[in-house]
Amino acid sequence: MKPEFLKRNFFQRILGIPATPKPTNSDSWQYDGTKIVLNLDKSLELGKPGGAIRLEGGELPIRILVMRDDNGKVHAFENRCTHGGHRRLDPVPGTDTVQCCSVGKSTYDYSGNRIYGPAPGNIATFPTELHDKQLVIKIEKQ
Ligand code: FES
Repeated sequence: MKPEFLKRNFFQRILGIPATPKPTNSDSWQYDGTKIVLNLDKSLELGKPGGAIRLEGGELPIRILVMRDDNGKVHAFENRCTHGGHRRLDPVPGTDTVQCCSVGKSTYDYSGNRIYGPAPGNIATFPTELHDKQLVIKIEKQ
């Protein structure tokens, strides 16, 4: 199956520059060693379907992509393509997929299964729980 591709220019693909930003409010999330707690009031990017942020750095041992799908459900993925460059991923609106920002465009479904591209394997997904205005993401490999 050939997926739809996110529109990115040649240089963005070659350099592996993702479309998904880091959070505008850097204090919108915390990591305690087992889980991320994300304050949705401060995570403006996740306020509407299609919105996404990438969490990385600090004490966080792996990069995480958090996105809200077209039905309003939030998903969390390890933000690391399994192809050699291990580039970051972006949501592809209207397709229920996330896609590598590099030239290979490896693409994964919301369960983390690779459905297109040179990547040899699937990506990890993480369970999310909503508690009032806090989103909890348990960081354990599935
Ligand atoms: S690093 Fe993702 S397709 Fe190459």
